[in-house]
Amino acid sequence: MHLVLMGPPGSGKGTQAKIIAQNFNLEHISTGDLLRKNPNLSKEQRDIINSGDFIPDNMMLEIVKSKLETCHGGWILDGYPRTLTQAKNLQDALQNSTFQVIYFDIDEGELLDRITGRLTCSNCDSIFHKKTKPPIKENICDNCGGALIHRKDDTKETIKHRLEAYHNYTAPVVKYFKEKNVLASISTDNSKSIDQIFDEVREILKG
Ligand code: AP5
Ligand code: MG
Repeated sequence: MHLVLMGPPGSGKGTQAKIIAQNFNLEHISTGDLLRKNPNLSKEQRDIINSGDFIPDNMMLEIVKSKLETCHGGWILDGYPRTLTQAKNLQDALQNSTFQVIYFDIDEGELLDRITGRLTCSNCDSIFHKKTKPPIKENICDNCGGALIHRKDDTKETIKHRLEAYHNYTAPVVKYFKEKNVLASISTDNSKSIDQIFDEVREILKG
């Protein structure tokens, strides 16, 4: 199975991708996690990420291509593609083999609390939230015991910019996949639990 998750920052891509990957035995490829964990990034590249701008398409293509090459089973892409050029690059790299896109639709008013309250494991990238998904022990990852941190781009100021980038560059990709009839939408508002959303994903993947 080949799956692409799309949605604005904080819509739950990483949270659901981890559950889907575990249940369907897929490799979870999060371009955000790959970038944050890359020790070879320059200061300029780190500044781009921390400000909420996008890394150039050609660099992202190299990262994703080399990851897909080592992936012999199914995969789930989280955070890629997020420009029309990236969407076309992905289709070329896959030689037009098919993939399912799931779009996480959320009321934007819910994103600020989600993002500013998020805690991320510095070791295994597990995702928590101070209020809605607190870890059992404060600032310690339930999964691996690693330290929980706030991402540098999870600030009130940066979120506005990340949403602008989303509207300018990624929303057209959502439209593009919708027109190609490969995109299914799920509402991921706070009124639904993480488990409820996963049940809806499972229904879509059943076909
Ligand atoms: P990336 O890491 O991909 O960030 P993002 O797209 O902004 O998305 P987030 O990770 O912030 O949100 P999410 O949808 O994963 O939500 P989560 O599950 O954590 O990218 C970061 C940066 O890297 C980019 O800005 C860019 O600079 C660069 N980059 C990455 N890919 C790139 C590319 N392709 N091209 C160019 N540049 C690229 O959930 C959020 C919170 O909500 C959590 O606390 C969670 O616990 C909580 N939550 C989840 N579900 C629920 C629920 N149902 N109810 C209540 N709370 C919930
Ligand atoms: Mg994420």
